[in-house]
Amino acid sequence: MKTDAAGAPGRRASLQKDAEKETPATEPLGQGEGLVWEEEEGRATLILTFTLRNARKAGLSKTAKVFETFEAGIHHLETRQAKKSKNTTDDLEFFVKCEVHNSDVSVLINSLKKVAEDVKTIREERVPWFPKKIRDLDKCHHLIAKYEPDLDHDHPDESIFLPGFGMYLNKPVRGDPLPRVEYTVQETATWREVYRKLSSLYPTHACKQYLDAFQQLEKCCGYQEDSIPQLQDVSRFLKGKTLQTGFQLRPAAGLLSPRDFLASLAFRVFQSTQYIRHSSSPMHSPEPDCCHELLGHVPMLADKEFAQFSQAIGLASLGSSDIEIEKLATLYWFTIEFGLCKQNGSIKAYGAGLLSSYGELVYALSNKPEHKPFDPKLTAVHPYQDQTFQPVYFVAENVEDAKAKLQKYALKIKKPFSLHYDPFTCSIEVLNTPQKVKNTLSQMKEELKNLCFDLENIF
Ligand SMILES: [Fe+2]
Repeated sequence: MKTDAAGAPGRRASLQKDAEKETPATEPLGQGEGLVWEEEEGRATLILTFTLRNARKAGLSKTAKVFETFEAGIHHLETRQAKKSKNTTDDLEFFVKCEVHNSDVSVLINSLKKVAEDVKTIREERVPWFPKKIRDLDKCHHLIAKYEPDLDHDHPDESIFLPGFGMYLNKPVRGDPLPRVEYTVQETATWREVYRKLSSLYPTHACKQYLDAFQQLEKCCGYQEDSIPQLQDVSRFLKGKTLQTGFQLRPAAGLLSPRDFLASLAFRVFQSTQYIRHSSSPMHSPEPDCCHELLGHVPMLADKEFAQFSQAIGLASLGSSDIEIEKLATLYWFTIEFGLCKQNGSIKAYGAGLLSSYGELVYALSNKPEHKPFDPKLTAVHPYQDQTFQPVYFVAENVEDAKAKLQKYALKIKKPFSLHYDPFTCSIEVLNTPQKVKNTLSQMKEELKNLCFDLENIF
């Protein structure tokens, strides 16, 4: 015999009957109703608001009975005095976040309408799952398989070759500690050639932020042409500069899906490969390799403004639709990979795809390609080229300006919640209730107050 949540056999059947008495016909849901906030194993999460007149009398118990009938799991419940209330104590507005079986959504809302007024649900939105804690990144490992028929199958032992896909996977693929890699003499020779050639170009082609960080990496983090820096040491260096960036590296399993890759940026985690390009082609690699990561990405990740810019793209991606993810991935491409910026009257590179490719770095700053001003709305939908050099590059006024424009763009991405990143716990808080927004706001106010005191003490 089935036992329901209340522990009494058959009780659900009788409650269903009662509910049916109160809701003789199941009305179809109105437009904008029936929010399915997220779905898992046939359960839907609903956000409901409604008003109860004379809540102290029968209203409250009747409402509770509706939720009990459908075995709704209450995640969050808030009440406040109704705005247009004549009766100041007994009329209440409710905010409820609950979980219910998909098939019961419609009848639950209709049942509620029989006992409460102004029943509203937030417009239907399906929010894709996204990581809330840094350890959730272990679930973000969806790979993109890319067929590369010309790719040499003779690759270092640290990687696994996927036959037929032309893709190398690093071991390990999850959030394990970054393993140290013993590079061969030939691999080190490849690194030397790349390092020597590119570093001769940086003083004239790279932006100031890159040059400053590169100098620090050479001084403090083993950047030199005779050995390939270990990701473990580089990650420690970036993370140790907590006040600046706090970025950390994580072993990547090859080409990740844009959604998974962008999500890691929200936590200031950069997914990085460890293998090195083939020695037959030192100035080009069809996939990201450690020359691209170490010479292209790492120096910029040590810059405060750029780190914030990277995290802003990551935060914007969390819970976004596939269309928005595509736009954000395009923005990532034209900025973090192939971005240019103005500096002291000339144009310099800050994108990793440029700073790790001699040929494209020279080409991008020549008068051959088209240079357009960076505008997230236009850049996000601009076609890009992943087989050869870009015909168009986007030029930001500076990294700070690019960050401000991106944050403004991100605010316009429609989601039924806001997100707040807590740097102390490295976790994302989903602000989907008024109380949560208030709590975060008061926390910020407190921090601002402390900063004002600090300022007064200094001057
Ligand atoms: Fe990259």
